[in-house]
Amino acid sequence: MAVAEYVREALAGSSVIRKLFEEGAALKKLHGSGKVFDFSIGNPDLEPPPAFHETLVRLATCDAAGSHGYMPNAGYPAVREALSKKCGSEQGVTLNADDLVMSVGAAGGLNCVFKSIINPGDEVIVSKPYFMEYRTYIANHGGKLVEVDSLPDFNLDINAVRKALTPRTAAVMINTPHNPTGRVYPEETITALAAALNEYGKKSMRFPYLVSDEPYREIVYDNIEVAPVLCAYQNSIVVTSYSKSLSLPGERIGYIAVNPSTPDKQNLIAALIWATRVLGFVNAPALMQRCVAELTAEKVAVDIYAERRDAFIKVLDGAGLKYSRPQGAFYIFCKVPSKTAALGDDNTFSDHLKKYLILGVPGSGFAAPGWLRFAYCVSSKIISASADAFKKAVGTYL
Ligand SMILES: Cc1ncc(COP(=O)(O)O)c(C=O)c1O
Repeated sequence: MAVAEYVREALAGSSVIRKLFEEGAALKKLHGSGKVFDFSIGNPDLEPPPAFHETLVRLATCDAAGSHGYMPNAGYPAVREALSKKCGSEQGVTLNADDLVMSVGAAGGLNCVFKSIINPGDEVIVSKPYFMEYRTYIANHGGKLVEVDSLPDFNLDINAVRKALTPRTAAVMINTPHNPTGRVYPEETITALAAALNEYGKKSMRFPYLVSDEPYREIVYDNIEVAPVLCAYQNSIVVTSYSKSLSLPGERIGYIAVNPSTPDKQNLIAALIWATRVLGFVNAPALMQRCVAELTAEKVAVDIYAERRDAFIKVLDGAGLKYSRPQGAFYIFCKVPSKTAALGDDNTFSDHLKKYLILGVPGSGFAAPGWLRFAYCVSSKIISASADAFKKAVGTYL
């Protein structure tokens, strides 16, 4: 047997998304891409801001000696210095270059964090629904993801988190703005979570880390602000990337920021740098580091995502579907319409939608059966053109 058993199991578990991706491609081949309403993948279709291209060209043609060499594993000091100022102002703390480690996207950053803080058998508490890759990122390093319910509006249920804390809890991980619901946790939630973790830490003498995954921080609507995490709790770590905020998911660039007053900070930073090296990243991509350091004031055209959110809401309202109104990111989480338990099944509804060339990801893939996620990082033409298909699909389902 060539492939390890647990990998085979993982491959089988992730087959829903793979299948959907393949089905989408086949449908587009058959009907033409303009006829298929593919809301399955969170791959931003907006181009990076023009300043990115200008910066990229300038930096790519710069022949300064050493531009392509190895560097400190944490990343270029000048890049970390520039990003630490922006991150510090968002997070309500003073950060320095040495509080940041550049990463290969948020995924690379999260893997470095879990490699650094998880002892075999340790637990990481995550609120349902959640980005499905978290389970693997935690298991990669011998940890176990512990699920807790969220509140009906997808806010964190602090009591549920409190009850799930055990001596094995290495971390509580949150994601704001949230994939798949678009929820942005209010400041009171972060404060209450910090209080629960402090209370538990004082009792148990193990203060779990609070890991905040924030790649969608810049994509928020209606003037909402993403509450800072670093100023709320000492043992906190922020992981972020430019995959969504600058539409650069293929360039694999992000960073980890550590609370400057975390006890044992030097060891934690040393562990993150070591993890970057031994996980085989060695360092985040050099050219991209230099680019993003010059683009701290830039982001993709969030107003376009906001228009699409509003357009999608109209489509769902028109079809009589219930959903959670997104405050950020580019996903909308939609309740499967049901008169019977069988109809409420998200896989059944997802299969039914395919007959109308609509693709959405079943909520079971996010530990939330009974829901479907639609990604609206697609053209507004596709969104508005899907209105009739949605109406017909719901009409024939109920
Ligand atoms: C919630 C969440 N975290 C992390 C990631 C990984 O992001 P990156 O492409 O920066 O690795 C994603 C990607 O979609 C995501 O949705």
